[in-house]
Amino acid sequence: MVSSKKSPTTPATKSAQSAGSCIMRWVTRLTVLGVFIALAGYLDAIKAPLHELAQSAIAANPDDTSGMINYIVKNLTETYPVTQIRLNPDVNEWMFNNAGGAMGAMYIIHASITEYLIIFGTPLGTEGHTGLHTADDYFHILVGEQWAFAPGALELERYPAGSVHVLPRFTAKQYKMHEGCFALEYARGWIPLMLPFGFADTVTSTLDLPTFGRTAWITGREMLYNLLIGKI
Ligand SMILES: *[C@@H]1O[C@H](CO)[C@@H](O)[C@H](O)[C@H]1NC(C)=O
Repeated sequence: MVSSKKSPTTPATKSAQSAGSCIMRWVTRLTVLGVFIALAGYLDAIKAPLHELAQSAIAANPDDTSGMINYIVKNLTETYPVTQIRLNPDVNEWMFNNAGGAMGAMYIIHASITEYLIIFGTPLGTEGHTGLHTADDYFHILVGEQWAFAPGALELERYPAGSVHVLPRFTAKQYKMHEGCFALEYARGWIPLMLPFGFADTVTSTLDLPTFGRTAWITGREMLYNLLIGKI
């Protein structure tokens, strides 16, 4: 008599095994994705010393905000070939930005899944919550002064032109663009998760739909350009 008996397998052990292998598959997939994204971000990051660039832009264009912005964009477009990083060279492409209760205008120089670089500011001054983000933020002050404060501090932090305010991911502060202030803002991390914060005030308060459409269109366009050249 030949019997083809295998070790007994009950439905319970079968489903435990398949759940285990399903979890392992997902852990593997997410690990591969994570390594890939970290690597892509590392390889193609805008690694120009942005702090140095902001300082030389200020030194070369005293009291000329527009000159500083042109200087920065010219430097970056000369540094990075279009096959490596897509930069938006249209220095007139400004739009309102309402977020965290603060209001100003921005010009998107670069946007991808893992980083963005914008000019943000207002000649009037504004104040609000930085937001709690999945990206590290480097706020290079070009003109004016930014003030900031976190609960527990009883004195303000003061960031004058030429300085940089670093806000690590998952931290938040109250901030103020004191009177007229413009900054070069670089964020690095998971940018798509920052977008709800960027749109919430428009959707729930200003209802400025043309600005919403324009912001979504330009952000999407820049991210897509970068994806197409393989810059994540
Ligand atoms: C861009 O700016 C950086 C930092 O100031 C500087 O080292 C570099 O030489 C500049 N590149 C160009 C092409 O102007």
